[in-house]
Amino acid sequence: MSEGAVKKEERRRFQAIKGTRDLLPPETALWNRVEQTAHEVFGTFGYGEIRLPIFEPTDLFARSIGLDTDVVSKEMYSFPDPLDRYERAAQILSTPSKIAGYFGMDQQQRANAVQKELETLPAAEWVTLRPEATASVCRAYIEHNMQQGPQPVKLYYIGPMFRRERPQKGRYRQFYQIGAEILGGTDAPAIDAEVIEMVMTFFERLELQGVQLDVNSIGCRECRPKYVEKLRAELVKVKDKLGADSQRRIETNPLRVLDSKLEHEQPIIEKLPRIADHLCEDCKAHYAAVKKELQLRGVEYQENWRLVRGLDYYMRTTFEITAKGLGSQNAVCGGGRYDGLVELLGGPPTKGIGFAIGEDRLILSLQESGKGAAAQGRDVYIAWMGENARATAVRAAKSLRNAGFSVELPPVEQKFGKALGQADKLGARFALILGDNEVASGEWTLKTLATGEQGKFTEMKLLEFLQTEK
Ligand code: HAM
Repeated sequence: MSEGAVKKEERRRFQAIKGTRDLLPPETALWNRVEQTAHEVFGTFGYGEIRLPIFEPTDLFARSIGLDTDVVSKEMYSFPDPLDRYERAAQILSTPSKIAGYFGMDQQQRANAVQKELETLPAAEWVTLRPEATASVCRAYIEHNMQQGPQPVKLYYIGPMFRRERPQKGRYRQFYQIGAEILGGTDAPAIDAEVIEMVMTFFERLELQGVQLDVNSIGCRECRPKYVEKLRAELVKVKDKLGADSQRRIETNPLRVLDSKLEHEQPIIEKLPRIADHLCEDCKAHYAAVKKELQLRGVEYQENWRLVRGLDYYMRTTFEITAKGLGSQNAVCGGGRYDGLVELLGGPPTKGIGFAIGEDRLILSLQESGKGAAAQGRDVYIAWMGENARATAVRAAKSLRNAGFSVELPPVEQKFGKALGQADKLGARFALILGDNEVASGEWTLKTLATGEQGKFTEMKLLEFLQTEK
């Protein structure tokens, strides 16, 4: 069907789905710079990159993050992935313990037996677009027996995550995280401090403004439940004064009440018992040592007893970093220790700590404070006229690009005036002018667009000159 034959009302203009967006040049140059800096900085701390699947079994996240969390209870993109019947049938037919049972059966009987077996299997497996990557890293640690290699294992990842949240500035349904996890070995407080030092070094390198680090300890399996009960008992006493969300959380997850931003709940929360006063001796010592290690590294922090984080797997150290220019969604990084998680997922007892940076928010903050200047336009715009010049222009473009310059070569001839206008619009630094004269003499004209200065260069000299201007 030709385009004209499509009725106007049948045409649909597609738009990116709510909460998702396109990242376009020149902004993507900033994303690349940020990611390149992460590769470099994390590399200097001995971390290696891990690339993980975008979707995983729903149960992996449900178990790790916790059923009562916002992420699992209402924000995950989950769908049933139909099991491939042929694949499953082939699997059944090749299982040695089954094969013996097929002896003496004719083809039809065998087909019936497999069919019966297939009917006992679920029709589909539930899968989820990953809302975060810590659970996946732990799954991979177990799957690849990483506990058998040298410990600890230090991994980082960069990529999209998915949460069905209400979109607003700094909050998207597809967003990007830069995260790192350190698994295995000890839970020495120096590990907690070094992980935090690494994020702070990364932010410093990017010149992120208004960075504030909050730290806390939320205790362990021994002391936290006792504190949670105490907190719950106190919350029950003031239940009538709390909002609906907090009232519900008294039952499901009392710690999350401390997260509340509701104005009228603030004076009530201020009077609640604080976890620091209820940590066991080991947790108290661990927390004190983490703070000492941070001081040793010159990392400035502020203690925040209300920092509990929204995911269930945390214990002991938790931290969050905020930055300038982000409004209400100002957490640019969150992390903490999760010593029981690998075990919960069926692996050996393993220590773990890590963080994830919200890359979208990091970029927003850099842009708001003027630190996000995008890469400039082309280095060289080639203005050419005439068939002879065209061949020279193609050759010049090739050698300049090989030398690492970004070059714009117009595909069709244009008058020099128009070409220079184009060069300006693209933000080119130089225009290389190639006409009959230049080709005949072998002396090319280079114009510096900011100053209007012009000079004549041979091909060799031109490359040398541009190298010095890089
Ligand atoms: P999280 O606090 O859920 O932690 O997310 C970390 C960061 O991701 C947040 O501080 C925020 O910057 C960014 N973020 C979260 N949701 C959104 C959204 N909808 N739109 C834009 N940015 C968002 C975790 O994900 C843990 N896995 C971190 C961790 C790693 N803990 C230990 N290891």
